[in-house]
Amino acid sequence: HGLPYLDARLPVKRRVADLLARMTLAEKAGQMTQAERNALRAPGDIAGYALGSLLSGGGSVPSPNTPEAWARMIDGYQLRTRATRLQIPLIYGVDAVHGHNNVAGATVMPHNIGIGATRDPALAARTGAVTAKEVRATGVPWDFAPCLCVTRDERWGRSYEAFGEDPALVTAMETVIQGMQGARNGKDLDRNDKVLTSAKHFVGDGGTEFGSSTTGSYTIDQGVTRVTREELEAVHLAPFAEAVKRGAGTVMPSYSSLDVIGDEHGPVKMHANAEMINGVLKDRMGFEGFVISDWQAIDQIPGDYPSDVRTSVNAGLDMIMVPTNYQDFTRTLVAEVEAGRIPVSRIDDAVARILTQKFRLGLFEKPYADTTHLSSVGSAAHRAVAREAAAASQVLLKNEGGLLPLKPSQKVYVAGSNADDLGNQTGGWTISWQGSSGKHTTGTTILEGMRKNAPGLTWSKDASAPVEGYDAGVVVVGETPYAEGVGDVGNGHDLELSAADKAAVDRVCAAMPCAVLVVSGRPQLIGDRLPGIDALVASWLPGTEGDGVADVLYGRVPFTGQLPVTWPRSEAQLPVNVGDSSYDPQFPYGWGLTTLTAVPK
Ligand code: GLC
Repeated sequence: HGLPYLDARLPVKRRVADLLARMTLAEKAGQMTQAERNALRAPGDIAGYALGSLLSGGGSVPSPNTPEAWARMIDGYQLRTRATRLQIPLIYGVDAVHGHNNVAGATVMPHNIGIGATRDPALAARTGAVTAKEVRATGVPWDFAPCLCVTRDERWGRSYEAFGEDPALVTAMETVIQGMQGARNGKDLDRNDKVLTSAKHFVGDGGTEFGSSTTGSYTIDQGVTRVTREELEAVHLAPFAEAVKRGAGTVMPSYSSLDVIGDEHGPVKMHANAEMINGVLKDRMGFEGFVISDWQAIDQIPGDYPSDVRTSVNAGLDMIMVPTNYQDFTRTLVAEVEAGRIPVSRIDDAVARILTQKFRLGLFEKPYADTTHLSSVGSAAHRAVAREAAAASQVLLKNEGGLLPLKPSQKVYVAGSNADDLGNQTGGWTISWQGSSGKHTTGTTILEGMRKNAPGLTWSKDASAPVEGYDAGVVVVGETPYAEGVGDVGNGHDLELSAADKAAVDRVCAAMPCAVLVVSGRPQLIGDRLPGIDALVASWLPGTEGDGVADVLYGRVPFTGQLPVTWPRSEAQLPVNVGDSSYDPQFPYGWGLTTLTAVPK
């Protein structure tokens, strides 16, 4: 071919410059356009609009939903780019936020809030490496993760996507970026077990004010983050400075708005925030990757669509997750450039940033899936890492009389809504966007894990079985799955236990020494029941490996987890965070008992 941009021996900068110089405005606009796979009017549109990227939204899966089918599906889209003049490969993105969670049979890790509870950065990196290997094996080179959200008010439906409320903890867990991408300089991105990451959502997504959301029925998600300049820097920006240092390939702005106390202007939508994206992220922090919008987020910018397009692109957005009306987007983008309202230099910078990552990923040399590691998806070795993470994420909040760990010889009674529900213990962003109760993928429930230690245990979900004559009861309570603002408190959710769970706790704990496990994306209000509970465990959303929870319950692994968020006494206390001047929670940030004497295997 002799075309420099196709010569892998040349430096990436040289290849980018050569390719950029060859591109028409329409081809540049195409590279900045990301469409959802189901929005394609025809596969031919991939070439027709020279689309630079496609995504699967949560739950947008091939049928059958198998690793092999994913690779075939994405290769099918990639093949279409061969019909373009310059044959620029498309980059496919998914939300693999706790394992390759859209794919049936994949390893599902604890959600980030549980990873934060482990306080183990090396383990976080290992979970990232497992996730990256499963994602890339299915032909996906880009993962819209990790969320570097700092969750400041657990009424937020995305609290569980955060590593915690403390920016230092979030920053410490960013080892996950190296687990997913490899070396900071991007040299490992062309490996068949690494993926491009997205540090999200820039900036302040976890700091929105309850009641400030104007999005549908949401109460806090996508609302307004009103902070002092100091709080903005220390709490919400610090994790992104770390992500830039770690070479995160992309950054995704937040739906939320930023209102810095003292600034003359009011709240500014993050997707329109040039001061933060161009000024802080790119100029001050030196971010060299590309900025990808959130799902249809530019449409929320006040003004008509042409204004949305020019405002976001001029603010520093490089690729737009349109994701449906891609025809309208590219047409509008070209028109705005031709009208001189978006400088060509801005377009060239955006396209150069996108092409740089595609060259680093090796997509020009290997545009199709490298399925070498396809058999690792959901493998025993990968599940072992998830099991270790699930165990390390368990936080022992109370342990009267040393009830835990249990002994296999004990007569144990198990009850509660979340003891035997794989869907509830994996939570949102699992198989579907919102997740679902019941058995929707391969995994082990907490009950199944307990049974391997104590085959003779009694299982009675609603605790209707007779409760006499037991050494200990284990009641596993908590939440049903949700994602994003759907999970906002006040939007059909609260922080109370369900009536059924309350009844099960009351019945079991009145009849025998009892341990209560809370399987949820955030703290639940235990309050007045606490005195009657002997042992209390925050289990978070442990993922597919319920064995990990059983491992600490039966002492194969000691409890070592520590609270990643403050556990409130009441909803009225929220937001309540470590460092607050008045601080009287049920359990403080960092709390966690240990049972260091692990019994012999
Ligand atoms: C969602 C989320 C974002 C996700 C994107 C694609 O609305 O806000 O975290 O990456 O859309 O699914």
